[in-house]
Amino acid sequence: MRSSTAGAEFIGAAVSPEQLAADVAFVPVFGEADKLDDVAGLDAATGGEIGRARARGEFRAKLYDIFITPVTAAGWRTGRVALVGAGRREEFDPERIRRVAAACGYFARRRRILSIGFVARGAADVNHGAQCVADGLSQSDFVISAYKKDESAGSAPAKVVITVPGGDAGQIGEAVRRGRIIGRASNFARELANEPGNVLTPREFAARIEMAHTNAGLSVEVLDEPRIREQKMGLLLGVAQGSAEPPRLIVIRYDPPGAPKTPVLGLVGKGVTFDSGGISIKPAEGMDRMKDDMSGGAAVAAALRALAELNAPCRVIGIIPTVENMPGGKAIRPGDVLTGASGKTVEVINTDAEGRLILGDALWYAQKLGATHLVDVATLTGACMVALGRTVSGLFGQPNAWVATVARAAAHAGDRVWHMPIYEEATEQLHSEIADMVNSAGRPGGAVTAAAFLREFAGSVPWAHLDIAGPAWAETKEPYQPKGPTGVAVRLLIELGMTRAGVDPAPAG
Ligand code: BES
Ligand code: MN
Ligand code: ZN
Repeated sequence: MRSSTAGAEFIGAAVSPEQLAADVAFVPVFGEADKLDDVAGLDAATGGEIGRARARGEFRAKLYDIFITPVTAAGWRTGRVALVGAGRREEFDPERIRRVAAACGYFARRRRILSIGFVARGAADVNHGAQCVADGLSQSDFVISAYKKDESAGSAPAKVVITVPGGDAGQIGEAVRRGRIIGRASNFARELANEPGNVLTPREFAARIEMAHTNAGLSVEVLDEPRIREQKMGLLLGVAQGSAEPPRLIVIRYDPPGAPKTPVLGLVGKGVTFDSGGISIKPAEGMDRMKDDMSGGAAVAAALRALAELNAPCRVIGIIPTVENMPGGKAIRPGDVLTGASGKTVEVINTDAEGRLILGDALWYAQKLGATHLVDVATLTGACMVALGRTVSGLFGQPNAWVATVARAAAHAGDRVWHMPIYEEATEQLHSEIADMVNSAGRPGGAVTAAAFLREFAGSVPWAHLDIAGPAWAETKEPYQPKGPTGVAVRLLIELGMTRAGVDPAPAG
């Protein structure tokens, strides 16, 4: 497979648009009423072409629309300007900024534009805005066609200059560096999620993380089947036993020297490399997507790498239980009872509710390793996608203060989440006649009962659960992303590590 992670150079600057040295300079435009007054001389620099295009309605600044025209004025260092519709100025939040920038990145990629500039105007917080632009422009390094013989996806820009005219060059440079690391981390997660099940087996998943992560500041330990057995992780082993591929438990540790003993952020990611459903097999339609059922694990791995690159001031443990869920001759059957590492017994009603089983053991292990705050990330339920759609993650957890911290980090990072409740009836729905609980409670509130199941393994540690079944995979091509894996939750997890699990206030930048 070709890797799409190019090594483009990203620079932050505080120069005027005139001084921006690039083949094409992108300028976001906030609707038809935006006269671009703060970008002095832009229209004149194009010989009045921008004004004419807007007057005749050729460019109406519709969201993600791009209008490109040559710069004719002497003295301007950019060859062309590209106006990009950026929506309403009051909606120019981190997520929107990233999308607008990504749309520009993919546009440049299609046209093989090698050096681009971006005038980061309109963000409420200009430095954070520059960071989101760098993240967004980095998204276009990712292409979904890595296995196609004929590359038709263009080429990502080699040089990117992001400017905040009149800003603080040092701070913008730092913000751009952060955004670049975050964007590359999300592409790393997308590449893993995009890998087919025959390539990215649990063993291969572990091997790739070991290879990518074993560097300064990160240590990776991979538990193989005998060691998983030593830990008595019967839930994880139960799911694995239907597959010819053995399971792995990947443990990534980030222990920055000098960081305080607590908090220890425990990030747990579902790593099902393919989910056939097992004996409770899924219908054929859409089953191919289930190669992405390790998106949560990929997000955790990517976030840890980024946190090390960013020198985050917080101790973090990443735990990724990884298995293939298959209906082999040794597979668990509906009605089987499994015993997890915590000692709790589970009656398996539906072998397709496998994510919560492996996460149960992993959440227990995260506490054993000393996590003081937990977040798990999982493509857990179709029900969450039914409830919230394809672009919002379900957020569950306790206590409310920790859920609120996670929600704040999500908003700052530009990852959409929505808080969902777990009332006591959800736990009652998990009643089993013969074991401590069942693994599947039927259709009503399917995302909630799944969360209630996980809560039984979270102990007394603050715990949040993100159900990313909807947003992990884009089913439609958009200007800012191809169909396929999105890298959801990567930036939210990075933000949590950077703010030391909410112990520190969110940074201004
Ligand atoms: N990996 C699936 C959830 C999923 C479905 C993710 C669609 C993305 C898109 C999960 O393992 C699963 O199969 N969940 C079942 C649970 C049910 C059996 C209680 C589901 O959602 O149907
Ligand atoms: Mn399943
Ligand atoms: Zn699954």
